[in-house]
Amino acid sequence: MSKQVFNPNPEFAKNANIGSMDEYNALMDKAKENYEGFWGDYAKEKLDWIKPFTNVLDESNAPFVKWFDGGKLNVSTQCIDRHLNTRKNKAAIIFEGDRGDIQTITYLDLYKKVNRFANLLKEDFGVKKGDRVVIYMPMIPEVAYAMLACARIGAIHSIVFGGFSSEALKDRIEDAQAKVVITADGAFRKEKPYMLKPVVDTAIGKGSPVKKVLVVERNNEDVTWVAGRDYSYNELIKNKSSECEAEVMDAEDPLFLLYTSGSTGKPKGVQHNSAGYILWAQMTMEWVFDVKENDTYWCTADVGWITGHTYIVYGPLAMGATTVMFEGVITYPDAGRPWAMVENHRINQFYTAPTAIRVLHKMGEDAPRKYDLSSLKVLGTVGEPIDPPAWKWYYEEVGNSQCAIVDTYWQTETGGHIVSPLPGATPIKPACATLPLPGIIAEILDPVTGELAEVGETGYMCITKPWPAQIRAVWGDEQRYIKSYFGDVKKDGKAVYFTGDGARYDEDGYITITGRTDDVINVSGHRMGTAEVEAAIKKHPNVAEVAVVGRPHELKGEGIFAYVVLKSDQGVADEVQEFTIINQIIKKEIGNIATCDDIVFISGLPKTRSGKIMRRILRAIAKGEAITQDISTLEDPSVVATIEKMVNS
Ligand code: PRX
Repeated sequence: MSKQVFNPNPEFAKNANIGSMDEYNALMDKAKENYEGFWGDYAKEKLDWIKPFTNVLDESNAPFVKWFDGGKLNVSTQCIDRHLNTRKNKAAIIFEGDRGDIQTITYLDLYKKVNRFANLLKEDFGVKKGDRVVIYMPMIPEVAYAMLACARIGAIHSIVFGGFSSEALKDRIEDAQAKVVITADGAFRKEKPYMLKPVVDTAIGKGSPVKKVLVVERNNEDVTWVAGRDYSYNELIKNKSSECEAEVMDAEDPLFLLYTSGSTGKPKGVQHNSAGYILWAQMTMEWVFDVKENDTYWCTADVGWITGHTYIVYGPLAMGATTVMFEGVITYPDAGRPWAMVENHRINQFYTAPTAIRVLHKMGEDAPRKYDLSSLKVLGTVGEPIDPPAWKWYYEEVGNSQCAIVDTYWQTETGGHIVSPLPGATPIKPACATLPLPGIIAEILDPVTGELAEVGETGYMCITKPWPAQIRAVWGDEQRYIKSYFGDVKKDGKAVYFTGDGARYDEDGYITITGRTDDVINVSGHRMGTAEVEAAIKKHPNVAEVAVVGRPHELKGEGIFAYVVLKSDQGVADEVQEFTIINQIIKKEIGNIATCDDIVFISGLPKTRSGKIMRRILRAIAKGEAITQDISTLEDPSVVATIEKMVNS
C-alpha cells in the first residue's frame, strides 16, 4: 500500500457490525452474485412492512427504477412506533440549545409529539397525502417532529436551509407548489435571537401557492402575524391528540424533496422515496458509524442539507439510536464547545465536515486536550475532501489515535453513504474515501470508453447498478433527471449514474475523490452551482458579463471567485463598493453562503470564437496555476495576459 495505513482498532473490531475485510468481501461477493437477493433479504430483515413487497427491483423503465414494489410501510412508524416495545424510555433526541439548554426526548415523547403534529397538519391545515410542505426551520427538535409528521400522513416535505434568502425560499416553494410552510419565529445564535419568520413573509407574496404558515415560537421575538394565514404551533398543538394512525404508503411513494445545485441556474428538486431511502439510511448508520444500543451519536450538520436528513433524523431514528441535535455554532463560546458536548453527553460517534475540523483546529489546536473525549469510538467526515493536516489533527488530537475516521463520500442524490471505510474492517489511508460500501457498485470509469479507469488515472465516479436510496426523480422534470445523471457515461452501451465527481484508484483499488468535473463548487461542504451565483450577480444593472469559478480556500475548502465585466466603459469607480453591492445582491438572491471571496473586475472574458467562455483558463488563473492549454483558439488571446495581470496585481 502506498500511503500510511491505519488498521482498525482490534478491540473495536471484535464487536463491530462488520469486523473484518473478510466479512466485507463476503458481503460484496454476495451482492455481486445475487444483487436482488442481497437487497431483498436486508429489506425483509430491517424494515417493518405493513404488506410485504412482491418484487425487489424493477428496471423495466430505467433510469426510472422501482424498489420493493408492492410493499407497504410508513417511514414514521419505522422511525418511532416499532421501537416503543423495547426503547420507550430511551432518548431518541438529545437537544442542546445555543445557550446550553438541554431537552431529552424519549421515543415515547417523540411518538406523542409527532402524532400531535401530524393531527395538527391534517385537522387545522388540511394537509393530505402527496401535498408538499416546505420546512424553513432552525435546528430545534420541532424540525424533526415536522419531518416525521409529514412522513406519518404521507405529505412530502421539502426543507429549505435556514441560511437561504427569501428569493431562494420563494423559488423552492413555487417549484414544489407547496401549500404550507412550517417555520419558527427564529432561534438563538451566539446567545442572541435571530429571525426566520420575516424571510418567510417576504417569500410569500401575492400568487404564492402557500395558504397557511405554521410558526414555532422559539425565541418569542415579535413577528408579524397575517390573519387567516399564520398560526402559532405552540397554541394549536395544545389540544391535539397524541394518537394519529399512520398513512399506509407504497414503497415508492415520495418521502421528501431536497433542492440542490446543479450546473444550471435553477436548483433541482431531488426526490427520495420511502422504502429504499429509509433502508439505506438505517443500514449505513449500523455499518459506517457502528452505533450500538447504548451509544450516543452526534452529527453537527444542519437539517437543511441531506446530511441532516439522513444522519441526524432518519438514519439514527430508524435504527433506534440516540441522536444529538445542536442549535448553536460549534465555535461559540469558544472552540472547545464541541468537545465539551462530547464530554457532557458521552458522545460515541461524532460526524462533521472538514471545514469545521479546519476551523476548530485553527481556533483551538489544544482545545480537545482539555476535555474527556474517551467516549469517542468513530469520527466521521462528510461533504468535501479532507486535507491531510486536518485529518492528522482529527485523528490524533480528537480521536487520541484510537478512533477510526470514516471519510464518507456521498451526495444529496445518493441518499446515504456510497464510498466509505467501515470502522471495524477497512485499513484506512488518510484523506481517502477508500472502498464502496457493500451492495453499492460504484466504479471509476473512463468517460470515453466506459471501461474501468486505470490505476492513478482520474476518471468519472459512477454507480453502475441502481441502489435502493438513489434519487428517483427531479421534481417535475423527467428530462432533467435523465440528462443530469444518465447522460454522460455509458458502460457496455448502457447509461449509468454519474455523480459529477472525478476520482482515481490507487494500486489497492482504494478510491480518492478528486472533486467535481462540472461547474459546481464546494464551499464549506455545501454545493453551489456557479451558474446560480452568476445568475444572481447578473441582477446587478451594471454587470455586463460574469464568470464564477472555485478557488482553494484555507478554511472553506473552496471559495467563490468571480470575474466581472461591467457595462460602463469608465472602469470601476470604486472596487470595494462594487464588491459590497455584488455580495449584497447574492445575499438577497441566494443567501450568505454564496457570497464571493474574491471579485476581479476585468474588461473581457476569455472566449472561443463561437462565444464559449473558457472556464478552465479562469480556474487556472484563480488558482495561480500556469496556463498550459492552447489559447490560440480564443477570439482575443491577449485577454488572458490582461486578466492574469489584474488578478495578480
Ligand atoms: O463533490 C462531492 C462532495 O460533495 C458533493 C455532494 O454534495 P451534496 O449533495 O451537497 O452532499 C453533501 C453531503 C453528502 C459530492 O458530489 N463530497 C461529498 N462527500 C465527499 C465529497 N468530496 C470528497 N470527499 C467526500 N467524503
